[in-house]
Amino acid sequence: MRTRVLVVEDERTALQALSLLLEDEGYEVLKSERGEAGLQLALQEEPDLILLDIRLPDVDGITVLQRLRAGYSDAAVIIMTAETTSSNAIRATQYGAFDYVSKPINDEHLLLLIRRALEYRSLEKEVREFRQTPPQPGIPGMVGHSPSMQEVYKLIGRVAGSNATVLIGGESGTGKELVSNAIHEFSGRAKGPLVKVNCAAIPESLLESELFGYEKGAFTNAASRRIGRFEQANGGTLFLDEIAELAPNLQAKLLRTIQERTVERLGGNAAIPIDVRLIAATAHDLNEGVANGHFREDLYYRLNVVSISLPPLRDRAEDIPLLVQRFLSRSVRPVTIRQDALDRIMQHRWPGNVRELENAITRAIVLAPGGVITPECIQIAERAAATVPDSWVKQVPHRDGYWSVIRQVEERLVRGALEDAGGNKTEAARILGVQRRLLYDKMSEFGLA
Ligand SMILES: Nc1ncnc2c1ncn2[C@@H]1O[C@H](COP(=O)(O)OP(=O)(O)OP(=O)(O)O)[C@@H](O)[C@H]1O
Ligand SMILES: [Mg+2]
Repeated sequence: MRTRVLVVEDERTALQALSLLLEDEGYEVLKSERGEAGLQLALQEEPDLILLDIRLPDVDGITVLQRLRAGYSDAAVIIMTAETTSSNAIRATQYGAFDYVSKPINDEHLLLLIRRALEYRSLEKEVREFRQTPPQPGIPGMVGHSPSMQEVYKLIGRVAGSNATVLIGGESGTGKELVSNAIHEFSGRAKGPLVKVNCAAIPESLLESELFGYEKGAFTNAASRRIGRFEQANGGTLFLDEIAELAPNLQAKLLRTIQERTVERLGGNAAIPIDVRLIAATAHDLNEGVANGHFREDLYYRLNVVSISLPPLRDRAEDIPLLVQRFLSRSVRPVTIRQDALDRIMQHRWPGNVRELENAITRAIVLAPGGVITPECIQIAERAAATVPDSWVKQVPHRDGYWSVIRQVEERLVRGALEDAGGNKTEAARILGVQRRLLYDKMSEFGLA
């Protein structure tokens, strides 16, 4: 079958000239002078490549592009624009266009670009088929068509069927828990339980019995037997969130459990066989934990049989419009978003990733006058500048000596974060961006424990 190219261009003479050029090159050409009609044609005919004018009489090219991707078209798209430094064109590539050309169009350059785009697309297809991935568009509940998210979907598809332990990495709010849900749902264990334990949320002293359970009389308060999370997850999946926070003695016990596939309740001596698929997640780099001795290397290798790493939202800005649409669609009253508001969203770095975006949209929906979100509705928490002000640095009493100054600063940081967190240590550690254990160490150092 001949390679098919759809040209969407409202100027008739330009449309004709492009068609002739492409037909001469042996391409089959489809034509449209309108954005809406072009979109329909693209979704029906599934061309291999689309040349898309950005300024169209009915809808603009960016909207067409967004809706193409939302309709799961995988055509390569090249944007045509009259302005050389068009921010639109740059935005188009963020939304998944292969590239853009400026008008007047240089035929040779365009043909070269088309060949490259087609090559890239067929390569991408080959890789997809080679890996025998589940059919696109991916995983229910998860939004995003960026290449890095497609990789994530493929991995989920490949590991779900096995019993392999999976380690999910990624910054806070990138969707680690969603991935663990998806793996469970797509696995042969979907009918079994999915049990979740957040290792950072449960005090260290309780976590052991939480995970492994205890026998009656195991300790003073053990009035009756309690089944641990491992046993509860039997026949299903156990999700261990924030695994980097696991204390050393529990790391050892977890390792044994994985190796022997049995658990022992506290105060018991029977090794109870368990059939559990383990998924662990961490927002911290476990490699670093291994390097500085906080995380057992042997356990790391046991957990990291397959690793799935979620990209931060700022590295896949093309997914933002889709996510925004998803969050808007949850609103009970119809809400739309103005382009300048979406622009503001696209410009932000989203350090809190999808969760932060989700919260911002939820707030914007409430604030939207007449159901239209304007830039004023988007409340982005501007973080304090990462750099310490000059005036502050000048006052540092360096003559007091390095360690004395560092200690004072550390104490301020710890006290401040604890205050902001209302005494919640997990939250305080999150504010500071450090592991809970470091916070504990510092608290006892400063007599705050
Ligand atoms: N790809 C996605 N599509 C739709 N919603 C998403 C996506 N990724 C994340 N979310 C939403 O963002 C929020 C955060 O996701 P999740 O709890 O899975 O992140 P996390 O990586 O576990 O974060 P943390 O490390 O803070 O626990 C959830 O409300 C989730 O539904
Ligand atoms: Mg989480």
